[in-house]
Amino acid sequence: MEENGIMRLVIRNGALVSSDTVFKETDLLIENGKITKVGRELQIAADEYIDATDKWVLPGGIDVHTHLEMPLRDDIWSSDDFYSGTVAAAYGGTTTIIDFPTQVRGKKLSVAVSEWMQRAKEKSVVDFGFHGIVTDVSKATVNDMARAFQNGITSFKFFMAYPGSLMMSDTDLFKAFRTCSKLGALPMVHAENGVIIEEFIREALDKERVFPIYHAKTRPPLTESDAICRAAHLANLAGSPVYIVHLSTREGLQAIVNLRKMRMDILTETCPHYLLLNETAYLERDLKGAKYVMSPPLRPESSPPALRYGLLKGEIEIVATDHCPFPLSLKRELAGTNFTKIPNGGPGIETRLLLLYHFFVATGKMTPSQWVSVTSTQCAKTFGLYPQKGTFLPGADADCIVFDPKGQTSLNAEDLHMNVDYSPYQGLVTKGKIETVISRGDIIITQGRCTAEKGRGQFLPRRPFRR
Ligand code: URP
Ligand code: ZN
Ligand code: ZN
Repeated sequence: MEENGIMRLVIRNGALVSSDTVFKETDLLIENGKITKVGRELQIAADEYIDATDKWVLPGGIDVHTHLEMPLRDDIWSSDDFYSGTVAAAYGGTTTIIDFPTQVRGKKLSVAVSEWMQRAKEKSVVDFGFHGIVTDVSKATVNDMARAFQNGITSFKFFMAYPGSLMMSDTDLFKAFRTCSKLGALPMVHAENGVIIEEFIREALDKERVFPIYHAKTRPPLTESDAICRAAHLANLAGSPVYIVHLSTREGLQAIVNLRKMRMDILTETCPHYLLLNETAYLERDLKGAKYVMSPPLRPESSPPALRYGLLKGEIEIVATDHCPFPLSLKRELAGTNFTKIPNGGPGIETRLLLLYHFFVATGKMTPSQWVSVTSTQCAKTFGLYPQKGTFLPGADADCIVFDPKGQTSLNAEDLHMNVDYSPYQGLVTKGKIETVISRGDIIITQGRCTAEKGRGQFLPRRPFRR
């Protein structure tokens, strides 16, 4: 019971899944938002009990790659704001996100950070951190990076694609890696060879190849593996590790495996859509293939099996979402001119855990502990949040999920909570059901309802990267 003002919640008799083992029939004691005890048949009076008999209890998911209310052009923003996006995240078992304040070329990174902070603090229902997206290496930007780093933004993303807007030259990339190395920050790279892609796009448009499939055809897999090799070499020359975001190709993974043999320090993430979908999706009729226009694109059929194998072998450590939705109505309308006009990005913040459970854990390919590792624990470790997040160790934030492995969940757009009018997985009913979601001891999802107050999410200053 509440004693000395302490709020107690006990989750009873669940199978506690950590990143390295499963503790059967175990209780979890939560006091004032923290995990304080893990054990069998804890005889402790509490304010609230959750019976997890025959259920699994997991640490809350951590999605290290989201783009909520991201301005793309003046009048086009990704369609989930920090409220709808984090509510959807919570329904999907994700209790922490890391989003990307994006420096607009010619403006200050610190301006982006303040804008993102204001939006997220006002609306987020789960805890959030930030990586800074940096588009130049001017003195002012390097100072801003140092200030952001001191305030717990300890990773920065750089683009090798999108010339003229986000792309950095090799020289600037090298300088940016050096800055990260000096600070102790983790550089993250969007690895696509932007200038060669521009050339392929020009050729395609000259030949009036305008349909969504040409989004994939103008970004061949070698443009990813080439950029990965360059990023790894430049990072190594600058004395820095490098984290490759949204790895999408077999060729890119092969490059990473080879570069690691050369002792290059590379970390990597992929996303469910690169594991499960391929470029044939762009051929959906009536420009519906526009749904899948994102960068990197969905890939030839050879890539998803190679990435799945790499994930199961531990060559890919993290699965994030790159959640960046735009309405299909808008995507199709803009696709009418040509594929380059389609806003890049897709939905995923709500479906990550269930897709991995359905396709990997329920089929026996991945252990429950591996599932927890790639969706939570390793995310916390890589991005300076461990052991506050991603674990049941006493003292950790009480972020957890009660999961029914025998339940099922529809991934139809109308049954999900993301603010978007389509689902890439329409018609799929997954095995497994996320029943209860707890964030810092608060029950935020229960009986199919979100009970979280808007703005309850807290900013998470993160520690520097450490191997
Ligand atoms: O198409 C995508 N992925 N949009 C979001 C921005 C990025 O590159 O991650
Ligand atoms: Zn990217
Ligand atoms: Zn992204």
